[in-house]
Amino acid sequence: MPQLRVLFTQEEIRSTVGRLAREISRDYEGKNPLLIGVLKGAVIFMADLMRLLDMPLEVEFVRLSSYGRGKVSSGKVRVVRGLLRLPIKDRDILVIEGIVDTGITLDFLLGWLRRKRPASLRVCALFDKAMCRKVSVPIDYLGLSVPNEFVVGYGADWDEKFRNLPGLYVLEEENQPQGA
Ligand code: IMP
Ligand code: MG
Repeated sequence: MPQLRVLFTQEEIRSTVGRLAREISRDYEGKNPLLIGVLKGAVIFMADLMRLLDMPLEVEFVRLSSYGRGKVSSGKVRVVRGLLRLPIKDRDILVIEGIVDTGITLDFLLGWLRRKRPASLRVCALFDKAMCRKVSVPIDYLGLSVPNEFVVGYGADWDEKFRNLPGLYVLEEENQPQGA
């Protein structure tokens, strides 16, 4: 079994989501944003965040292809399923992402959304692996910085597993020599 080492506790994540909700509430006061969550990783974050936003809003989700079974981005992104039904044009769009790693996924999504001519387009990302960036992407609301390690929990998976863990954990390699 892979070993899990805690990086952020449930409580640390909870207070970070609260802080992000306050920033978003302040900036979107009087507006009616459309939150677009990136499936599947952002589901838990979206669920927690949206309940702290005291304003009229709507939600949508997009499903993009990314890592498959591997831990390294394939570099190829596509919209796997066009779940978007609500119009993007002239809306204030806030993309909700779990983890930004290379930036390739988010860069693709932002380009795709921009072509639909939203009134505004911003990004809220809970976890940022900035050291892994290959494409620079704007993050307007940033939760927590994560070191260059593969993490799971709070929506993030490895091979579809561990999404249900309440905190964020580093997935340590099996058969790795300990205490070296
Ligand atoms: P990017 O295109 O490399 O920025 O990857 C973004 C996507 O890869 C995120 O939406 C996550 O679903 C996934 N991802 C990136 N890093 C990790 C990780 O450490 N654990 C689990 N999923 C990750
Ligand atoms: Mg994944």
